Amino acid sequence: MKILASLTVACGLMTASFAYAAVDADAAQALLKKSDCFKCHAIDKKKDGTPYKEVAKKYKGKADAEDKLTKHITLEPMVEIDGKKEKHKAIKSKDPAEIKNAVQWILSL
Ligand code: HEC
Repeated sequence: MKILASLTVACGLMTASFAYAAVDADAAQALLKKSDCFKCHAIDKKKDGTPYKEVAKKYKGKADAEDKLTKHITLEPMVEIDGKKEKHKAIKSKDPAEIKNAVQWILSL
């Protein structure tokens, strides 16, 4: 168990430093998959939510893009789905580096 715990910590640290170096697309997609995000968003097809490519376009060049998206996927703001107000789903992670990586991946599309 001890070994497993330190391995987990080591991996966490690696992900954290990696997130600053480059976007880890596989990790980002795995996290969004785990969080059911693809239920309503596709990369380039319209579903209940905007395609991620359009989100990236909308925020391109905006200095507060990362901050806005991070808040959107962690604070459960209200959104409208089929004319009904619902809480937007929150991402299933408490790791800021992991969340940042997912946000940067969306913005990189
Ligand atoms: C039940 C459907 C649903 C699920 C599940 C869902 N979303 Fe959304 N999402 C929406 C709707 C509706 C909006 C608001 C209108 C739009 O942008 O299409 C939205 C908006 C967004 C936006 C754009 C915010 C903006 O300011 O333009 C992002 C980014 C986003 N979602 C990411 C995610 C992520 C990441 C997840 C998984 C944690 C997720 N969504 C899960 C429906 C959903």
